[in-house]
Amino acid sequence: MNLNRRSFMKYTASTAAGLWISSCLPDKAISKINQTVKEFHFTAVQTRVNLGSGKDFVAWTYNGQVPGPEIRVREGDIIRVVLKNNLPEDTTIHWHGIPLPNPMDGVPNVTQKPVAPGETFVYEFEARPAGSFIYHSHFKLQLDQGLYGPLIIEPLSETEAYDQEYTLLLEDWVLQDVGGAAAIRRRPAGPMMGGRMGMRRQFPTSQMPLPEPVYDGYAVNGRLLSAIYPIVVNKGDRVKLRLINPSSATEYYLSLAGHVLTVTHVDGNPIKPVPTEVLRIGMGERYDVRFNANNPGKWLLAAMETGLGEGMLRIPVNYRGIKRTQSVGPIFRQDMLLANYMDFTFANLWGDITLPPDRSIYQTLSGGMHSSFWTINGQVYPETDALRVQKGERVRLIYGNHSMMPHPMHLHGHFFKIVNPAIPPDMWILKDTLIVDPMQQIAVEFTADNPGKWLHHCHNLYHMEAGMANVVHYAQS
Ligand code: C2O
Ligand code: CU
Repeated sequence: MNLNRRSFMKYTASTAAGLWISSCLPDKAISKINQTVKEFHFTAVQTRVNLGSGKDFVAWTYNGQVPGPEIRVREGDIIRVVLKNNLPEDTTIHWHGIPLPNPMDGVPNVTQKPVAPGETFVYEFEARPAGSFIYHSHFKLQLDQGLYGPLIIEPLSETEAYDQEYTLLLEDWVLQDVGGAAAIRRRPAGPMMGGRMGMRRQFPTSQMPLPEPVYDGYAVNGRLLSAIYPIVVNKGDRVKLRLINPSSATEYYLSLAGHVLTVTHVDGNPIKPVPTEVLRIGMGERYDVRFNANNPGKWLLAAMETGLGEGMLRIPVNYRGIKRTQSVGPIFRQDMLLANYMDFTFANLWGDITLPPDRSIYQTLSGGMHSSFWTINGQVYPETDALRVQKGERVRLIYGNHSMMPHPMHLHGHFFKIVNPAIPPDMWILKDTLIVDPMQQIAVEFTADNPGKWLHHCHNLYHMEAGMANVVHYAQS
């Protein structure tokens, strides 16, 4: 830690709203006297962007960039973001994964009044805990138009040893149209919905939700296809990758040819390192992985082809000094090692979490069949029942997915632990986004230690917009 770089600011009433210490995270006592305010200025604006494919896209951006500027701070800093809205519609920013004070969470009409065109809003909160996060607009489908970026919180004291670090945002784009914005433009006209009009009577929503667009291009850090910047390594390097999925509706199965990836963090939180040949990453998830550069060559870190037009996500991994022109990509096989949630254990022990939870709530996820809506317990947001909790309770959410699609469920304002019957509760991993597979039942638990109204939803943006969301309500005390 470089003390010289910290300004010894006294924090005053203006910063008090952003100061908050998680009671559920161990080992976090630091002196607040040393807190540094890191200020960022974001202007949300429509911009023409070129992703390296020779074609311009009309995107909605922060400061004209896709992805938005990297926020990189140190654990315990105060992040202050001054957001100016130059878009033609309302906007907000959500700090995905960070358990911050409720008024800073950026959910329109739940935690704040949306920021109107021309207006400014100041977000301010403490950067905690360390890890890889995302920020993104939480207004309608704006995430799909380019309003997202990486948020990295470095630990106060680094315990990991690595030589290089890359942050990689995996983004889905619509090439045949005008980029992410195509989704908004392609509002289906009457005929497409003709056969489904009957559904409208069942659901009192005024507008039919938009179906997800057909993504046919994948970008990494705002660079498409062959324009994707390579990872360049020296033999012997230990390389850390922060893999972040801000895609609206695409999950990836990634593999690095010639190497084994070791998963070290899930949604920012440390786990006992687990090797894997394939890594699955759903929307809203983050994985930190490491590999040892011990196999000189030109390789690809690539996504498996899972559908039409997919499989174009290829990140070159080039060793310095290798002349070969052709890169070797991974070959996906049935028998590859694919680590999943149940293979992970938390890096530190939690302590005595052995009691049954105070409250269990079933969450049946369905939709998609003969319906444009996606539901929780048969209901469409905002008509979904609230998840009513009391401060201090340990709450178990039991998901049952009755649909044919995976749903990456995300809880705002809290981390949850993934219930894993095979290991003691004090080893359960901590995440904020969890893929619930078709026909799967899986449960999470969170401690209700952060009062407010918190959105809980599927991170497929189109499922969220089509109803798959509800709100955690704390009882007033
Ligand atoms: Cu990244 Cu409510 O989500
Ligand atoms: Cu979903």
